[in-house]
Amino acid sequence: MLENQKILVTGPSSQVGFPVARELARNNEVWGLARFRKEAEREKVEAIGVRTYAADLAESSFAELPDDFDVVLHFAVVKSGDFDYDLAANAEGVGRLMSHCRKARAFLHCSTGGVYQHAGNKALRESDALGDNHRVMMPTYSICKIAAESVARFAAREWQLPTTIARFSVPYGNNGGWPWFHLMMMKAGAPIPLHPERPNRFNLTHEDDYIAMIPRLLEIAAVPATVVNWGGSESTSIEEWCAYMGELTGLEPHFEETDQTIGSVILDPTKMHELVGPTRVDWHDGIRRMVEALNPELLASGRKG
Ligand SMILES: NC(=O)c1ccc[n+]([C@@H]2O[C@H](COP(=O)([O-])OP(=O)(O)OC[C@H]3O[C@@H](n4cnc5c(N)ncnc54)[C@H](OP(=O)(O)O)[C@@H]3O)[C@@H](O)[C@H]2O)c1
Repeated sequence: MLENQKILVTGPSSQVGFPVARELARNNEVWGLARFRKEAEREKVEAIGVRTYAADLAESSFAELPDDFDVVLHFAVVKSGDFDYDLAANAEGVGRLMSHCRKARAFLHCSTGGVYQHAGNKALRESDALGDNHRVMMPTYSICKIAAESVARFAAREWQLPTTIARFSVPYGNNGGWPWFHLMMMKAGAPIPLHPERPNRFNLTHEDDYIAMIPRLLEIAAVPATVVNWGGSESTSIEEWCAYMGELTGLEPHFEETDQTIGSVILDPTKMHELVGPTRVDWHDGIRRMVEALNPELLASGRKG
């Protein structure tokens, strides 16, 4: 893990950014940038030892923000549904941030597997076609993340700022994530939408793994930017993880097939294995730990609880 570095984490209150900032703040000077519209979120971030800086990526000039960070981890994202605002914050925002932090040793831009054109059960390589994958659930998301990647690529070259663009899959852990939303739907007896092209496979990525991979992701930062998939070495499916949570809790998942949901996004981990290495947490173990941490009361009635 990184030590004695001055680090900027954007989106430190996010599902993904919070556990990262908490881990880094143990041995580094960590600054956290977000709008912090909710005071409670600012307090939560400051409580883990992170210095907060309130700014809107859509418009801030970062006037009071230091420009001597060693590394920058850019997790902030906005998906308001307003293309003008979301492009300004996600795409223009990363450009202005990279301009401001151009002296950094490395810049990690967190992208998403949602930039790939939907390709059914094909494992997606970094050279595969991009497309408007998540339109059905988050209308601006994929286009803004593709636009943000383009700006990050430009900025890396323009300011010779070593950059990694990591296309993240489904993060989860003791901080929640998509499988936990599914667990809450199971608890409520609500139908879980499934794309008809079954199984619906993704690369679950446990927080222990994504935190552990950050130093290496920064080491491979380069000009031009390094683009790499970032997700669990083994893909699994919504069907499988919901069935396993059913075994743990005794709750039954009710699936509802619809094309009004995201279909499989399977990342090919070959390049990640070469550059960064494999993930370590078996998804069964990660899911069990998540349920133990967030809903231990549900385990009692489960067959494996
Ligand atoms: N969660 C997933 O399943 C998933 C999957 C693949 C990739 N990713 C990527 O992982 C990263 C983190 O995602 P997440 O789901 O953890 O995010 P999240 O929970 O939605 O949090 C978004 C963060 O960005 C900040 N933010 C939003 N708009 C902002 C703005 N205009 N200016 C400054 N900060 C702003 C928010 O704080 P304020 O509201 O206080 O500003 C918050 O800290 C993103 O880059 C995302 O694309 C996530």
